[in-house]
Amino acid sequence: MNADGRTRLNRTPAWTALAEHREELGEVRLRELFAADPGRGTGYTLRVGDLYVDYSKHLVTDETLRLLRELAAATDVFGLRDAMFRGERINTTEDRAVLHTALRAPRDAVIEVDGENVVPGVHAVLDRMSDFAGRVRSGEWTGHTGKRIKNVVNIGIGGSDLGPAMAYEVLRGFTDRDLTVRFVSNVDGADLHEAVRDLDAAETLFIIASKTFTTIETITNATSARAWLLTELKAGQEAVARHFVALSTNAGKVSDFGIDTANMFEFWDWVGGRYSYDSAIGLSLMIAIGPDRFREMLDGFHLVDEHFRTAPAESNVPLLLGLLGVWYGNFHDAQSHAVLPYSHYLAKFTAYLQQLDMESNGKSVDRDGNPVEWQTGPVVWGTPGTNGQHAYHQLIHQGTKLIPADFIGFAEPVAELSDGLKAQHDLLMANFFAQTQALAFGKTPDEVRAEGVAEDLVPHKTFRGNHPTTTILAKALTPSVLGQLIALYEHKVFVQGAVWNIDSFDQWGVELGKVLAKRVEPALTEGAEVPGLDASTKALVATYRELRGR
Ligand code: F6P
Repeated sequence: MNADGRTRLNRTPAWTALAEHREELGEVRLRELFAADPGRGTGYTLRVGDLYVDYSKHLVTDETLRLLRELAAATDVFGLRDAMFRGERINTTEDRAVLHTALRAPRDAVIEVDGENVVPGVHAVLDRMSDFAGRVRSGEWTGHTGKRIKNVVNIGIGGSDLGPAMAYEVLRGFTDRDLTVRFVSNVDGADLHEAVRDLDAAETLFIIASKTFTTIETITNATSARAWLLTELKAGQEAVARHFVALSTNAGKVSDFGIDTANMFEFWDWVGGRYSYDSAIGLSLMIAIGPDRFREMLDGFHLVDEHFRTAPAESNVPLLLGLLGVWYGNFHDAQSHAVLPYSHYLAKFTAYLQQLDMESNGKSVDRDGNPVEWQTGPVVWGTPGTNGQHAYHQLIHQGTKLIPADFIGFAEPVAELSDGLKAQHDLLMANFFAQTQALAFGKTPDEVRAEGVAEDLVPHKTFRGNHPTTTILAKALTPSVLGQLIALYEHKVFVQGAVWNIDSFDQWGVELGKVLAKRVEPALTEGAEVPGLDASTKALVATYRELRGR
């Protein structure tokens, strides 16, 4: 039993019914499902905003989908969804509301946290960001020496880096090409070194992005960046104001660091780090693409928020994608989920989703603190096609693991490309369609034989097929479409966390490593004795010191 008196997930009738259904289905053959239902290729599709979502190549029948929706009903996914949209404190272990959806709500919306409407505050910050971004873009905001800002360096990590860094790459075709925008996250000094080594400090703006403003990597890099700036400019502390702005919830720490809080763009504790790039954390992106494009992106997010909030279960795309993940993770023992965008601009998309999904649903106790007796979040991985085809697709096609995959593609190439390069787009997309076709339908031994292949090679050239994929197709990769895609994945992750009865909004698991790193550092630098250090780590630290000549 859960604390609220509900039966534990894996003992609910809805769960048991799915387990029995899985037994009955045995090995589902996609060739047979398609042969039995000629309408499957169009019938098993949904649209949300600009996204066309094809889920026909999944190992599911109408009955599977019905039973999965029953599981969603039994676990009250929509009840938790409504509580989230209402601003209730559904992040129970941190006692916080979860309101990233308020970041893209229209100006006249009313969303209350503790009786206060948060929407005017959201738009006030967006307006300040727009004003600032406009001043940087126009050259009105200058550096300490009066030079125009030509370089923007965002310093942040995790949710304060991955979102803007990803979106900047995705929307490169919409950016001001006269601006150099870079992202520094790693405490490895090489990251900052490479980011600033060819920049003129007088033309460089640092954006220090940290929700807490206590994250060791970010504060260390920000401190080094400040030292670099002051050395390069041969200036004192007074130069900081024109070259450093902060994005944070923590005004006290921002001002302790020496940044004027007039140059701080705030957000709130009800925005999780990995759900924050549409908040002030997106300032670097806004400077790059301009406020209008940024707002188009927010509108894209909002469109999918509204769909998730209002669409019935049968046509609710985030619900469907979440439930399909449950089907594979819990009833087919799939361990991972591949996200394979067929767009060079989406190179950082899957890395961004890794934090969104794995930091959210990498949990092994339920909301009441009981160990879960079911699998939770998958390993999320993938890189853009067609590159992956020449690297790891072999394992997806013919390996022993079941790896459900999302294929994301676009009908049009990015507008900026030359006509010659645009012509390559059809070849890219031919690969995109060919992959999901091969994964689903494979090649039978008889088909291989019919090609005259020698009998001893037939098993090697046979493709079993039945590898499930979702295809997401849109006309073009625009700011709005990016917002739609991210909101789709945010809500998919939400659905899965709700079904698994875990808190998708905390991240206690990253704390231990941080604490231990602080404890071990004096051993590296000063050879200090660290009480309770295990024998392996002790020997490694000693070897490290020896190699460093200490
Ligand atoms: O890795 C843990 C984490 O707290 C993430 O959730 C967060 O996105 C990241 O660190 C950075 O945190 P902050 O924005 O407070 O610097």
